[in-house]
Amino acid sequence: MSLEGKHIGIAFTGSFCTFEKAFEELQNLVALGANVQTIFSFSAASLNSRFGMSKNFIKKAEEITKVKPILTIEGAEPIGPKSLLDILVLFPCTGNTLAKLANGITDTPALMAAKAHLRNNKPLLISISTNDALGMNMKNIGLLMNTKNIFFIPFGQDNPKKKPNSMIAHTYLLIPSIEAALKGCQYQPVIQGY
Ligand SMILES: Cc1cc2nc3c(=O)[nH]c(=O)nc-3n(C[C@H](O)[C@H](O)[C@H](O)COP(=O)(O)O)c2cc1C
Repeated sequence: MSLEGKHIGIAFTGSFCTFEKAFEELQNLVALGANVQTIFSFSAASLNSRFGMSKNFIKKAEEITKVKPILTIEGAEPIGPKSLLDILVLFPCTGNTLAKLANGITDTPALMAAKAHLRNNKPLLISISTNDALGMNMKNIGLLMNTKNIFFIPFGQDNPKKKPNSMIAHTYLLIPSIEAALKGCQYQPVIQGY
């Protein structure tokens, strides 16, 4: 399936160690001719860390997509009524955002985008990156995996010895996972080792 002309939302949440890989894939999507709208959670848009300054991430997203990132809840709300996206990807998705989504909480631009988009019965793809995937968040992953219109980029344990509950998505599978989700399918195998 060609992604040319598809309207794709990429919502960044605060898994900063994954941002470098996420930006690589953002570039790939744009190179394929997709119209990409980025959205940032409040944490993604404001926390500075050893992985970089938030203002530089926002700038980089705009430079790559040529579209201003959505940074507010009211900015994300029209995604629903105007049916702006063919697919939305939480990329990367923190344990925090995952848990809130599973429990119907909508208090960041990324979660507002997800809620608004899901009301249109269109696919939401999740790229997990969290140290508690096999712990506190396991139940939420299970719940979301069994939810209509929600799909996962395949993921695996990135460091079973030092971080036994951590799971991270294989971000390089973004594009085939989008193609599958646009057809209503989960890209398989969904659990893949590192
Ligand atoms: C440097 C740094 C790295 C982080 N990495 C992760 C991560 O990989 N996964 C995760 O779930 N949370 C991570 N967090 C914690 C989240 O940023 C935090 O839970 C935040 O509230 C998430 O908000 P959001 O889900 O609205 O973006 C990290 C925090 C910092 C400061």
